[in-house]
Amino acid sequence: MTSGGDSPGMNACIRAIVRVGIFNGLEVYAIYGGLQGILDRRLEKLNARSVANIIHRGGTILTTGRSEEFRREEGQRRAAQILTDEGIDALVAIGGNGTMQALDKLSRFWSGQIIGIPGTIDNDVYGTDFSIGFDTAVNNAIDAVDKIRDTAQSFDRIFLIEVMGHYSGAIALHVGIACGAEDILIPETPTDIERIAETIIKGRRRGKGFVFLIVAEGDEAGNAVEIGRRMSELVGENCRVSVLGYIQRGGNPTRYDRILATKLGAHAVKCILDGKTGIMVGEVNGGLTETPLVDTYTKTKEVDLNLLELVRPLSI
Ligand code: F6P
Repeated sequence: MTSGGDSPGMNACIRAIVRVGIFNGLEVYAIYGGLQGILDRRLEKLNARSVANIIHRGGTILTTGRSEEFRREEGQRRAAQILTDEGIDALVAIGGNGTMQALDKLSRFWSGQIIGIPGTIDNDVYGTDFSIGFDTAVNNAIDAVDKIRDTAQSFDRIFLIEVMGHYSGAIALHVGIACGAEDILIPETPTDIERIAETIIKGRRRGKGFVFLIVAEGDEAGNAVEIGRRMSELVGENCRVSVLGYIQRGGNPTRYDRILATKLGAHAVKCILDGKTGIMVGEVNGGLTETPLVDTYTKTKEVDLNLLELVRPLSI
């Protein structure tokens, strides 16, 4: 099952789960439409060919969703009953924080094995260095920023570019460093619009041309449109705003995401065969890990603030 926001690489992971499962003598079923798909009994038996030619495709062939009914205990109990009635022994779900929390809730009412796999572009799940889809989303955003750079440079303009990430600044940090941003605005650190405006004005006096700022959608100072309005007043020129939006979430997964997805999918099956449950598989420092589900959404996944330290010396 895939649940919550789709992320590039989910299909490569589904393929690994199905193939490694069948290779090891398991029967593998798809659940379509995320958690709501359990409640709607959207189950289908898969075979090795069901996942042919999907390793390179973005999105999720299983489709996904966010279920209101499952948020309530009654929905969780009903889902548990349906899984038992359908003869399911183990559930593997790929998703973000919300999905891991949902799996943990399900485990109170269902005795089958439950394994989570981190799949979200936001990279905000504790228990893995990177979640499936983050690398592709960052590369998608870099492509877009490189295009904006051409026009920013031609006009010597100031651009604020908003990237996704929910409440995490991980995408913004990586995109900002990879694109040489003037500053990176993230929810993990206080954003001082006046200070940034002053830096831009001083830079202009030193002969700096175009400027771009990367804004995480969850920044506490507001979204890029709001910050852009304030910035325009402070610097005395019309700052352009570009919200990258859903293009970040689509497209063919990078080789990094395909390989991570394949390793985590295969490891999830191994965990089932070893009788494990209530965990999320991940990769930390190059090694495969298993983290209790409760930790994945109650502990905070820190962003690499060392990256932010680099912004000031690099943007002189
Ligand atoms: O979690 C992935 C993500 O793309 C976030 O970056 C964003 O805040 C959110 O999903 C958008 O959610 P929806 O798909 O409901 O519009």
